[in-house]
Amino acid sequence: MNKQIADIEEIISSAGKSKTGANLKFFLETYGCQMNFSDSELVTSILLDQGYIPSATPSDADLILTNTCAIRENAEEKVRKRLYEFRKLKLRKPELVVGILGCMAERLKEKLVEEEDCIDLVVGPDAYRTLPACIAEVREGRKGVNVILSKEETYSDIQPVRLGGNGVTALISIMRGCDNMCSFCVVPFTRGRERSRNPDTIVNEARNLFSMGYREVTLLGQNVNSYQWNDTSFAKLLERVAMVSPLLRIRFSTSNPQDMTDEVLYTIKKYHNICKYIHLPVQSGSDRVLQIMNRSYNRSFYLERIKAIREIIPGCGISTDIIAGFCSETEEEHAETLTLMQEAGYNFAYMFKYSERPGTLAARKYKDDIPEEVKSRRLSEIIELHRQISHQSNINDLNTVHEVLVEGRSRKSSQYMFGRNTQNKVIVFPADGHKQGTYVQVLVKKCTTATLIGEVING
Ligand code: SAH
Ligand code: F3S
Repeated sequence: MNKQIADIEEIISSAGKSKTGANLKFFLETYGCQMNFSDSELVTSILLDQGYIPSATPSDADLILTNTCAIRENAEEKVRKRLYEFRKLKLRKPELVVGILGCMAERLKEKLVEEEDCIDLVVGPDAYRTLPACIAEVREGRKGVNVILSKEETYSDIQPVRLGGNGVTALISIMRGCDNMCSFCVVPFTRGRERSRNPDTIVNEARNLFSMGYREVTLLGQNVNSYQWNDTSFAKLLERVAMVSPLLRIRFSTSNPQDMTDEVLYTIKKYHNICKYIHLPVQSGSDRVLQIMNRSYNRSFYLERIKAIREIIPGCGISTDIIAGFCSETEEEHAETLTLMQEAGYNFAYMFKYSERPGTLAARKYKDDIPEEVKSRRLSEIIELHRQISHQSNINDLNTVHEVLVEGRSRKSSQYMFGRNTQNKVIVFPADGHKQGTYVQVLVKKCTTATLIGEVING
């Protein structure tokens, strides 16, 4: 952590006058998934390299960038609302540059500058290297737009700068894009074709992070199980990162059920520092709905994978993503999602109402015909059932001991620290001088639906 701050200070102080951002301040805001947060760390690195200085608030920035999400309509609405505030700032300071990055930039392209008068820059996920050039164009009075997608770009040579992090846990992007074409999903259009990053650069990044004091890395991709670089499969990559140090925890996200091989499960089992936690998005419990979603597995295949996880890695935490009210979903099919949730016994779930995205296969082929109130009711049934299942799973953890990596102070009380067990459950315990980035053994004494509360039983 300290080394990283020193590095940043060095970059800032070495910023030459010739660089496009010398003495200018940038404010970068991020919405959406972990991949976006990871991309923002690349963008930060590119801007610091140009001499820009980070600003904590948009009001005193010279450059405001928003890294956006397009996965559901409400994600885009949030950004549009935020633009009102930036527009006000720009009225007071006309030389302020406002840019949109990420998936919404890629989806809407030039349309964004036509629709929103305060936007000067639109840069898509594969074009961040050209940010300085795009900013220079804006300075010359034009709009800076680059939304070209790439088949190769993995930014593997750019060292991400993790400004807002806790110094303990870090994201490492191992691949980009997605080739799966789930019919509801905009990601293949906004992030382009799937490509893997050179494993040597991934292992080096993990090694550097460990030497800076980081103790957990999350390997990121839209479908990490299909990672492939020459003869390095995802299982091999996991193994290489696990061997960086037994004290460095490894997580990964996201796994696609059809690619979750036993080889990966045995690798997870083999290394204590590979976390016993798998995010396995199911989307629906109905075979017909899964088929029109263009997911390439059915209910029984999915449940067989859950069984394999339970057998090979006893006690593994499992989480999922679920969509309520996809096109033409019947009450019976919705009920199948509920029974699948019970059978799978998830520890955690991300649950969404279906939101039609222009240009996707579903938008072109199927009617978004489930009324809003039916979608809402189905979603609340899913959420309520999930609450019961995860509460029961937390109750099962009472009076058991968990190895916890200490991440920081609890948000609710400074008397408490928090961290996660290997299954990714948040555990809170009295601070008592325990340090960030250390491992402690915690006996769980109480729980809520979302959190385990315990006390440390080792020094
Ligand atoms: N593989 C990706 C999935 C990205 S999208 C990953 O790394 O997580 C995350 C989740 O958003 C999906 O699993 C799906 O449950 C949900 N989602 C995607 N498109 C959606 C849409 N149009 N409406 C509602 N939810 C959607
Ligand atoms: Fe989207 Fe399916 Fe890829 S949900 S990100 S198209 S795996």
